[in-house]
Amino acid sequence: MAENNISVTNNMQAQMADIFRDTPIEAEKAGEYLSQFRMLMTYYRCAMKEVVTKFEVLDEEFSLRHDRDPISSIQSRLKSGSSIYEKLKRRNLPVSIESIENNLADIAGIRVICPFLEDVYYLEKALLAQDDVQLIERKNYIENPKSNGYRSLHLIIAVPIFLSHGKRIMKVEVQIRTIAMDSWASLEHQLRYKKSFELSQDMENELKYCADLTNELDERMDALRRNLFKYE
Ligand code: GTP
Ligand code: MG
Repeated sequence: MAENNISVTNNMQAQMADIFRDTPIEAEKAGEYLSQFRMLMTYYRCAMKEVVTKFEVLDEEFSLRHDRDPISSIQSRLKSGSSIYEKLKRRNLPVSIESIENNLADIAGIRVICPFLEDVYYLEKALLAQDDVQLIERKNYIENPKSNGYRSLHLIIAVPIFLSHGKRIMKVEVQIRTIAMDSWASLEHQLRYKKSFELSQDMENELKYCADLTNELDERMDALRRNLFKYE
């Protein structure tokens, strides 16, 4: 159940130190800030769990009816202190706990990986049909891939979490993509972010070519699926 309290506090302290690395906090406010930050991160973690459960329920129900899973895996993560710091700085936003909640929509992030292209849209539709899910923003990088070839469906949603003293609405970023899209994105991320040099134009072109191949793979596999199974 609950993680060790001391290690959670130490971890949250470390995350906060990353975020406030160049924004000094007065000594007498430090304890209050830490408890506010812990609370906010706990709310995001709870919202993330709720959304993961929503997808697990959809997967189980679909598999009962159709004898196959529309989800092959779900990953979730809370944004780290240093990523929060970097994003606030990059966007010239104030560094404060309110600013994190008001300005960043991807503190809680979920990635849902599907076998087939059509599963992506099936899951989106089933999620957004739920009356406690509010769509805040939708970016369809499948219909409109990024110039490097990146494809995925991105949704920012708001969901309620029910606490002892009432409910709170929290934002969660959901990325839904196929196995092929995920495979390309994971490898591209390693090439782009773990490198100590710029990618040459030839390498960029090659990555884009690989993205086009994964697109063709998705379309062909989805055509095979259409001949075998139908959505209701
Ligand atoms: P961020 O500041 O990165 O959050 O940008 P944004 O708020 O404009 O969000 P966007 O929806 O464009 O992308 C957010 C997330 O999508 C990233 O954190 C990655 O997980 C993923 N993503 C977007 N573009 C790429 C890409 O070119 N390659 C890979 N591998 N992942 C990407
Ligand atoms: Mg983002």
